[in-house]
Amino acid sequence: MPLVWDGSLCVGHKGIDDDHEKLVGLFNRFEDAVQRNQGRSIIAETVCALADYAMSHFTREEHVMLRHRYPAYEEHKALHDRFLEELSTLAGAVEERPDDISGELLDFFKVWIVDHLMTADQDLSDYICDRQVEAAIA
Ligand SMILES: [Fe+2]
Ligand SMILES: [Fe+2]
Repeated sequence: MPLVWDGSLCVGHKGIDDDHEKLVGLFNRFEDAVQRNQGRSIIAETVCALADYAMSHFTREEHVMLRHRYPAYEEHKALHDRFLEELSTLAGAVEERPDDISGELLDFFKVWIVDHLMTADQDLSDYICDRQVEAAIA
């Protein structure tokens, strides 16, 4: 089942939500390529597109955190770094055994994405929103 981009995954920050929508789309494209057995080069291309976009999104999010002096920056960045490592391992697995990408492995990434958006990224968005409200009424 692909990830569904709906209100439940929105964190309420336009820039971050736009990035997440694209990230979810790229994950779905990768999963679809695996499930349809589209072959090593297409699967590798989709996993690389996902990893590249994840890296640029995380960088943007980390800049937002720094700009707003987000107190949980280090913990949040560590989650991003760990995920990029997992994606890099996945890209290696695709190169070696593209037919071996299991449903469990796909689910691991799916659960990570949903969990990260709904917890760490939601906390970040709430923090920025609170600061903007405070600044507006100060
Ligand atoms: Fe994040
Ligand atoms: Fe994010």
